[in-house]
Amino acid sequence: MAKPRVVLSHPMFPDVIEKALAPHARVAVAPTLTALRRELRTADALVTLLTRRVDATLLRHAPKLKVIGNVAVGVDNIDLRACAERGIRVVNTPGVLTRATAELALTLLLAAARRVPEGERMCRANRYTTWKLDLLLGKELRGRHAVLAGEGRIGRETARLFRGIGLKTEFITREDSENSIRRKLSRAQVLSIHLPLTDRTRHWLDGVRMRYLPGDAIVINTSRGPVVDERALTETLRARRIFAAGLDVYEHEPAIPKALRDLDNVVLLPHVGSATEATRRRMVETAIRGTLAVLNGQRPGNLVKLR
Ligand code: DGY
Repeated sequence: MAKPRVVLSHPMFPDVIEKALAPHARVAVAPTLTALRRELRTADALVTLLTRRVDATLLRHAPKLKVIGNVAVGVDNIDLRACAERGIRVVNTPGVLTRATAELALTLLLAAARRVPEGERMCRANRYTTWKLDLLLGKELRGRHAVLAGEGRIGRETARLFRGIGLKTEFITREDSENSIRRKLSRAQVLSIHLPLTDRTRHWLDGVRMRYLPGDAIVINTSRGPVVDERALTETLRARRIFAAGLDVYEHEPAIPKALRDLDNVVLLPHVGSATEATRRRMVETAIRGTLAVLNGQRPGNLVKLR
């Protein structure tokens, strides 16, 4: 029997592809939209990154497609409904990036609390002229109250790391009413966001909820940019209504508005939550394993349910 045709939307670790995919499939790489549309005509599977939007329009070019392997745990780049209507399965990469992302949330928190990028910029610009008693005063974290929005794997692992440095933690879950969310936000000296992006979570942290945060709050977002109203956050930081923020994701990624980039009290990273060598390799392997399992008629553990 002929091997299935699997299209990669981008080049991905050649040695991983060689070992995990090439023995089982005919592989093509289609890094442009034009090439992707062409390759999809005969493809049984697509393995893609989160930067490729897979919607009904693209799927019209894929008459044989059976499965999409998303090299990410978040699947907001894929129109799941359109996939379901076409009977196309989707697999993702849960679990393998939990620790890396939680470590980055902690990194952002420490960097924001201790104003690390400000100090770094000062040194690089040769502006460190003398030790001063009040130079770059930050916040000590031990004993502070952290609220984690989202009680999934990454939220729980981040909470464990936060507790390791002496923070107290509590979660906001789906069961919380609006009143209870507001109560929790009002004691959130740290708010770390770990929600998937869905219609329900878009602007979950909006300008109204932001007003409940205490003046010394630090907001961390390593989930998806649109979960936070970026304009409202920029204004809140500019007006110093909270202490700081640490962001790995943006509302209109990769664009980061100048108004946000101009602020000193925000730490900005380019969506690198899962960016360790080992994790990124495991993500590709996991997406491939799930994709091949579906092609073999199995139900892998990383099959995504339609919300
Ligand atoms: C994911 O897997 O959704 C992450 O954002 C990638 O780092």
